[in-house]
Amino acid sequence: MSSSLFERAKEIIPGGVNSPVRFYEPYPFFASYSKGAKIITVDHDTLIDYCLGYGAVILGHAFSDVIKVVKTQLDKGNIFCVPTENEIRLAELIIGMIPNIEMVRLMNTGSEATMHSIRLARAFTKKKKVVKFDGCYHGAYDYVLVNPGSSASTSSYDGNLVESMEQTLLLPYNDVSALENLVQRNNDIACIMVEPVLANMGLIIPEQDYLNKLRRISEREGIILIFDEVVTGFRLSPGGASEYFGVVPDIMTLAKSIANGFPLSAIAGKKKIMELLSPKGTVFQGSTYAGNPISVTAGVATLEKLREVKNDLYPKLSRFSDTISDGIKDHIKDLKIKASINNISSMFQLYFTDEEIKDASNVRKSNKLLYKRLFTELLKSGIFIPPSQFETCFISYSHDDDDIDKTIEAFAKALRKVNDNE
Ligand SMILES: Cc1ncc(COP(=O)(O)O)c(C=O)c1O
Repeated sequence: MSSSLFERAKEIIPGGVNSPVRFYEPYPFFASYSKGAKIITVDHDTLIDYCLGYGAVILGHAFSDVIKVVKTQLDKGNIFCVPTENEIRLAELIIGMIPNIEMVRLMNTGSEATMHSIRLARAFTKKKKVVKFDGCYHGAYDYVLVNPGSSASTSSYDGNLVESMEQTLLLPYNDVSALENLVQRNNDIACIMVEPVLANMGLIIPEQDYLNKLRRISEREGIILIFDEVVTGFRLSPGGASEYFGVVPDIMTLAKSIANGFPLSAIAGKKKIMELLSPKGTVFQGSTYAGNPISVTAGVATLEKLREVKNDLYPKLSRFSDTISDGIKDHIKDLKIKASINNISSMFQLYFTDEEIKDASNVRKSNKLLYKRLFTELLKSGIFIPPSQFETCFISYSHDDDDIDKTIEAFAKALRKVNDNE
């Protein structure tokens, strides 16, 4: 059934999918429904999901505490374009969970949030340039599509405005001296934008003190530090990466886990910067769907649940991530495969290389063909990891010990197959 749906789709939807990462050879499976840790396909396969809406589904699919309130809200109206009390409630929850946040503006997508945070930084500093790091993905617009990660890492720059991309200065991740050199040579830098954990080149962990050093350099140079926490917000810890690593950016972007997968994003940060947003200030940001009652209701229910179960949820997700990673490492060792794994909190990813993965250049050298084979073999065993090496595997609160055991077994079988065919 997926194959015939794809035949129909590709005639009228470019490439047959509505976001490029969803395509893989020969055709992607089509989803029928999802519940908890599982996606059920139109072909009646039940898959344990480690893609989880690319990190959005932290509680689990169709999580009842969230779905219940959304259903109630649907009967009360899905769009007003006037303020609602729940928007204040959501902003209060965000401010209560993330340390050192003073104000929040709600939007819809991660791209929107990063784009407007850069505009804010430019207005605040009266400077132009954006520093971004090789492999970080911040959205689908010109001046962050400069060596981006995710599915954009394999696409061309066709149609991008070169003049716009030239405003972006590219540096390797985890390399403080490269940043030091750059800030000595350039005094027109408005902001440094970084994924505090790089989740769009597989998974790259910041080295000890790296984020602290970014903070110190940006403060010293009068540059705005933006943490793009679209993935890490509410996932690494209740207060995201800034709480996890104890580093406070000037502004941060949030999305994905904020509403357990309903379309909702936010910029959060210091009042003196946030108040530049219109109508209080002069930096324009607006959207018909921003703060829509469905996403906001989902956001309130998600954050209330995360707050309620945080002492159970975050340790459990870390334990699962460690168990899977250690289990896979044992099999890699037994099979003498050249592979390495990075994991942190509820995220993990495997690479076919014997190099330690510290930046995007290591990832580019890993064997992507073997990853694709691993993906295919895992799918046959009912495990859905991202089809691309440039994405991360995620775990949700709805995964259980049985899922984790099955996953390690499936990895063992898939790795054996991949190895045998080498
Ligand atoms: C770190 C990061 N920032 C920004 C984005 C863009 O978010 P969206 O796809 O909602 O526009 C993504 C998307 O995956 C992301 O991972």
